[in-house]
Amino acid sequence: MMEQERIIILDFGGQYKQLIARRIRECNIYCEILPHTTPLKELTDRQPKGIVLTGGPDSVNEPDSPGYPADILRLGIPVLGICYGAQWMAKTLGGSVAKADVSEYGHADLFLDAADSPLLRSISSKTSCWMSHTDRITAVPEGFRVTAHTENCPVAAMENPTLRLYGVQFHPEVVHTPEGSAMLWHFARDICGCTGSWHMSSFVQTQIQALQAQIGPSRVLLGLSGGVDSSVAAALLSRAIGKQLVCVFVDHGLLRKDEGDEVESVFGQNSGFDLQFIRVNAQERFYQALQGVTDPEQKRKIIGEQFVRIFGEEAKKLSAIDYLAQGTIYPDIIESGVGGAVIKSHHNVGGLPDTIPFRGIIEPLRLLFKDEVRAIGLELGLPPSMVYRQPFPGPGLGVRIVGEITPEKVRIVQEADAVFREELSRASIDISKGQFFAALTNLQSVGVMGDARTYAYAVVLRGVITDDFMTARAARLPYELLDTVMNRIINEVKGVNRVFYDLTSKPPATIELE
Ligand code: XMP
Repeated sequence: MMEQERIIILDFGGQYKQLIARRIRECNIYCEILPHTTPLKELTDRQPKGIVLTGGPDSVNEPDSPGYPADILRLGIPVLGICYGAQWMAKTLGGSVAKADVSEYGHADLFLDAADSPLLRSISSKTSCWMSHTDRITAVPEGFRVTAHTENCPVAAMENPTLRLYGVQFHPEVVHTPEGSAMLWHFARDICGCTGSWHMSSFVQTQIQALQAQIGPSRVLLGLSGGVDSSVAAALLSRAIGKQLVCVFVDHGLLRKDEGDEVESVFGQNSGFDLQFIRVNAQERFYQALQGVTDPEQKRKIIGEQFVRIFGEEAKKLSAIDYLAQGTIYPDIIESGVGGAVIKSHHNVGGLPDTIPFRGIIEPLRLLFKDEVRAIGLELGLPPSMVYRQPFPGPGLGVRIVGEITPEKVRIVQEADAVFREELSRASIDISKGQFFAALTNLQSVGVMGDARTYAYAVVLRGVITDDFMTARAARLPYELLDTVMNRIINEVKGVNRVFYDLTSKPPATIELE
């Protein structure tokens, strides 16, 4: 991968570093985020064509604020400082930074002072930008010029094109800076001279070769959950090493309707993927272990433990497995600290059996963002229904059934959920911005059907809109749609006599019911 043209994002603790990386990759340029503690030599060894210094929560005027060897600004490699990164650049080169009278947060009108700026060329003379700062640059270093300002910020952008150094006080990476992507494009393509060779098809080809070289004749074990990441990892590894890949799919009986069979039809015998596929039908074992258990945490724990045990049993039956593969993706790595990837648990429900000795871990997607993983999935021939699958929790329907889990309750929730999703699709509701599912309350209540009294369960429909799954609001679904779904569930799903729609946001509720 080292011959790939790349841009390095040096992280000073900014909250938008992943967004910067996204924008640069949208210019078809590979980039990676390194912590500001990375030795300069390590950084230059990676031969970046450009460097971006991120924002950060500190003040450059404080003694222990994060910094970097000043030589990074003298390498002749283009550097773009954003917010804190720009302030650090200014201060390091002899300019000055001071606390502003008022913190600037949110939209600001940006006025261009130099239409010939290589960074800002093609940008409107008055545009909008997103600010989030307390300090600001009060004097640019010698040899620099101011290229844009806002009402509260005399130096909103500065540059020294001869030294190939650029700084912006605002955040070009967020959507609230509408011309920000164009600025990053100018930096990456025009100033750094990148040609834009990062394409998913070329990634697939180079990654297949790299996997073949790394794995050789060895065998690789992958825990397949049917989720996007593990499915794409399986597809990629299958193309690279064929039958040397063993995929173990543990069906815990808590998947959505027909999902286990779908996974099998995509990866099982006679599918388009050459690999060894093992489906473990462990439904009964899970149901038995969960019998009588009502505490949500206890349920999660049991599901996790069972999973690890069963996966471990399967692994032990296989001989000569050298590597364990995982569907770790780039955000998992960034979130767990750059360079220190933690092993992501299969199904996200528990750890891995530590009794199986592997020679190493293979993570073929570790450089990719979620949408890149999806693009690769399509490229490799996975069905769109799998590639665009909604997020589904590792413990599955176990966290969508309040109280004790029984096969009967699993059936009810599977069927109700299938009806709900079918009607959402029929009504062309965009479900990509959130999560939509049916769950089962622990409430049984009296109803009447035909002339008979019923005593049956209440299904709850949940639809949330969210960016990050940390907070969410209930989706405003059309009443007619809810009415249709209610009618169909009552008529088609035995054991249900009430249907609720959950209006609660997160917080105070969580997205799942347990
Ligand atoms: P909550 O219910 O905490 O869910 O608001 C937030 C997001 O996380 C998913 N979720 C899980 N995913 N294992 C997972 O892999 C879990 O135990 C788990 N619990 C919740 C949930 O589906 C939502 O996307």
